Amino acid sequence: MTTICICGAGTMGSGIAQVAATAGYATLLFDVQESAVQKARERLKADLARLVEKGKLAAEKADEILGRIVFLTDSAQCRADVVIEAIVEKPEAKIALFRQLATVNTAQTIFASNTSSLSISAIAKELPHPERVAGLHFFNPAPFMKLVEVVRGEQTADAVVQQLVHLAKVLGKVPVVCKDSPGFIVNRVARPYYIESLRLAEEGKLSYEVVDRLLEGVGFKMGPFKLMDLIGNDINYAVSCSVYEQLGQPERLKPSFLQKEKVEKGELGKKTGKGYYPYSAPPPHKRGIG
Ligand SMILES: NC(=O)c1ccc[n+]([C@@H]2O[C@H](COP(=O)([O-])OP(=O)(O)OC[C@H]3O[C@@H](n4cnc5c(N)ncnc54)[C@H](O)[C@@H]3O)[C@@H](O)[C@H]2O)c1
Repeated sequence: MTTICICGAGTMGSGIAQVAATAGYATLLFDVQESAVQKARERLKADLARLVEKGKLAAEKADEILGRIVFLTDSAQCRADVVIEAIVEKPEAKIALFRQLATVNTAQTIFASNTSSLSISAIAKELPHPERVAGLHFFNPAPFMKLVEVVRGEQTADAVVQQLVHLAKVLGKVPVVCKDSPGFIVNRVARPYYIESLRLAEEGKLSYEVVDRLLEGVGFKMGPFKLMDLIGNDINYAVSCSVYEQLGQPERLKPSFLQKEKVEKGELGKKTGKGYYPYSAPPPHKRGIG
């Protein structure tokens, strides 16, 4: 493997591009929106500059890393050994993208989805090459979070799982192979953390700040509201809905109307400058999951 193409230049896509380019891969970063590509370029530049300032990266290395990334808005140029999609959390969009990219790639190209919750098998069965489709789920912020879930769909070839495990290790990550089930491991376990906190706020029992402060006080690295603002409320809400539906609508996992409202108002979190908290400018990434 020499070339990795990342589709979707948002929160996750730009972070994954940084990881791939830092590991020495020729990296393509594609988005349908020119503005998203521009923003990703600026963000990557700023994030690498911050590492240089902190003495964690040599200035010439930062230039090399940025130089390995080709920014694209034309999907016909998305030719790679591995395609990792990090676009909107909607199965039909992911299927359409993979179908289109299958026409410009070889019969060896692996198609990996960074989906947080959608069924890999359901996506794969709509494609002409289901054995080359798997989940490769990075966490937010991708350059710093070590865990990567490698999701085996019903038809994923063993060789593809092995290649993705190997790739994750070369990228400096700790891969965990998991079954294709709603929310995989982390997003299934983490759901109540968000949903119960939203219920407390909905019921007017506690403010966002107090919930965050209390949970950080007992050892969580990031309170749920800060974390949802980091992840993006659109993404977090879509994941809650998807896990809820796939598990047969259990009452305890019912998505929050408060979060739905945030999505409808466009208060998505750090990426839009307002979520549960106001943000003047996108601040540097801290810790989180996704
Ligand atoms: N945000 C997180 O914390 C997090 C963590 C792990 C996984 N994920 C998953 O990663 C994926 C992306 O999440 P995100 O937070 O980076 O989203 P985001 O909203 O920050 O970015 C998505 C990007 O995809 C682009 N896009 C939409 N449709 C496209 C298409 N057809 N082709 C190319 N680009 C397209 C958009 O223009 C946007 O720039 C989702 O599947 C999400 O579930 C998110």
